[in-house]
Amino acid sequence: MDWPARIESYVRLTKFPRSLFIAEDGRVVGTWIMGNDYRVKSGYYGGYPAGYLRRVAALFPDRRKVLHVFSGRVDLGAMPGDTVDCNPAVAPTWVADAHDLSPVPLAEYDLILADPPYSVEDAERYRTTMVKRNVVMRSLAAGIAAGARVVWLDQVLPMYRRDEWVIEAVVGIVKSTNHRFRVMTIFRRLARAGDGKVSRKQASTAPAFGSMEAERGMP
Ligand SMILES: C[S@@+](CC[C@H](N)C(=O)[O-])C[C@H]1O[C@@H](n2cnc3c(N)ncnc32)[C@H](O)[C@@H]1O
Repeated sequence: MDWPARIESYVRLTKFPRSLFIAEDGRVVGTWIMGNDYRVKSGYYGGYPAGYLRRVAALFPDRRKVLHVFSGRVDLGAMPGDTVDCNPAVAPTWVADAHDLSPVPLAEYDLILADPPYSVEDAERYRTTMVKRNVVMRSLAAGIAAGARVVWLDQVLPMYRRDEWVIEAVVGIVKSTNHRFRVMTIFRRLARAGDGKVSRKQASTAPAFGSMEAERGMP
């Protein structure tokens, strides 16, 4: 399924206005205005805003198996899947630190959603230390299959290796006044070195994030 078809699926299934577009560089860009429907069904601090999972599900109607990392009390009715959290109280499928996902059979999943704490203050709410995003990305890259995707919701773009990931989509998430902006970044795992033609073909479908900016001398 290509990205134009995913966008069609999003519009058809959610009935929300078309708000995702293919940029000239091949990436998907857009903004989701969630309005003031910012209730979190579970009441869990930092839970996904209402409607977020329904939108992501509509983008990936072809998903086979989903893993929620930093899962908290994610609404599994809206997006069924397995879960990983370091807090046993939220009863995840796997109690694990996202910095080392080696106990989790990552290769089974084709869609991984990640919703880390966004700041030190947020991490304190969960009694955890702040996440080292680049370490989590490395841990994910070590286990997931080529072609699998990570949908990462955050206020910071995690550092990632360009020989491991390509960014396919960047979507701004706006709730309502006095709420923080977030960005949903969709990464696709590239084929590993040695997979030859597949790797080069995959890499050519979308440029590494920042490459065009770097060419223009932007930071
Ligand atoms: C923003 S909340 C996720 C909320 C979730 N999206 C929901 O809808 O309920 C972040 C979660 O990450 C977990 N967490 C924090 N640091 C972690 C780590 N290093 N490894 C695994 N989980 C972690 C916290 O326990 C918390 O449940």
